Amino acid sequence: MRTPPMGWMSWERFHCNIDCENDPKNCISENLFRGMADRLAEDGWKEMGYDHVMIDDCWSSMLRDKDGRLQPDPQRFPGGIAKLARYLHNRGLKLGIYGDLGTHTCGGYPGTTLDKIETDAQMFASWGVDFLKLDGCYSNEEEQQKGYPLMSKALNATGRPIGYSCSWPAYRGGLLPSVNYTLLGEICNLWRNYDDIQDSWDSVQEITDWFFDNQEILQPGRWNDPDMPVYMDQSRSQMALWAIMAAPLIMSNNLRTLSNHGLYTKFTVYSPFLCLYVTLFFLQKRSHIEVYWRPLSQSASALVFLSRRQDMPYHYHTSLAKLNYTAGSYKAYDVFTGKTLSGLSATTEFTVSIDPSGVVMWYVYPRIQRSTTTISGFTL
Ligand code: DGJ
Repeated sequence: MRTPPMGWMSWERFHCNIDCENDPKNCISENLFRGMADRLAEDGWKEMGYDHVMIDDCWSSMLRDKDGRLQPDPQRFPGGIAKLARYLHNRGLKLGIYGDLGTHTCGGYPGTTLDKIETDAQMFASWGVDFLKLDGCYSNEEEQQKGYPLMSKALNATGRPIGYSCSWPAYRGGLLPSVNYTLLGEICNLWRNYDDIQDSWDSVQEITDWFFDNQEILQPGRWNDPDMPVYMDQSRSQMALWAIMAAPLIMSNNLRTLSNHGLYTKFTVYSPFLCLYVTLFFLQKRSHIEVYWRPLSQSASALVFLSRRQDMPYHYHTSLAKLNYTAGSYKAYDVFTGKTLSGLSATTEFTVSIDPSGVVMWYVYPRIQRSTTTISGFTL
């Protein structure tokens, strides 16, 4: 998986709502996933790269079938998972499913114990599943140590390419030495390191703090998953932060009522740049303004100026040299306004105005760079 996966996942917005009788539009059912697939396919999301529809917890029946295999809840998924996968594939989309290494899923549905790993991997592959999120409720450290690598083997043995997201680190505190990121890099495509995101700006900031505080120990080269972009008033800020973290962009929102694609476009076109060089970020803090930096391909880089202030727009004075840029002449493309600032030497002092809880995001590149790269319709 060369770039972080993108798509839509049910958890943050729809959780374990199984009340299809009273809430048919929002319950975990094949209709919900088909509906969201329609939105991705028809509203232009797919073209931006949002091509996975991911089922989270609470999709299965409370019991395995007579042969010990997982089965979807017959009332909520009457057509079965294979049919849902075909529906998605016909629209150029991919299907993700949820499992849990343990006796039960976090929501209380049948889990995948060690003896069921091969059966479940085979089942997922036979349904045409393209992605598996393997959660870690109701298992201990030893079971996780055996189970996550075993599932990786079992998925490979199916012969079907299936993206593999491991929640293992999130269940072991996310940090060294309890988490072996080298091993994870060998067996999983991405992993959840930390707590679930909630629909609040506090939660976004708490997750951001954790990832930046612990960036040294997080392994570059695979995808750390800070959880889903949820899109609130501070959506721009979250998108800028998630993009500079090279996070998987798996949304969890109500696509039926979301009208503004603009925000998403800006970042999807950046993802190839962000993915090439996964390395540490530089962080500067002054007057409750934080500056995040990430090197990109072709000597370019991304800068995010984040305001943690709650009072007023803040005028932040600095220069590229103060942000560790070497001598030279640069251009800066403002991701949100689409304006380019040229003739910036490293020592030129400039001011960015950042709204409370807001961001300014720049794509900075050397002035002499001859690139035919197109970003949001602009040729740089
Ligand atoms: C815990 C995970 O971290 C969440 O993302 C979600 O998958 C729930 N479990 C489902 O029960």
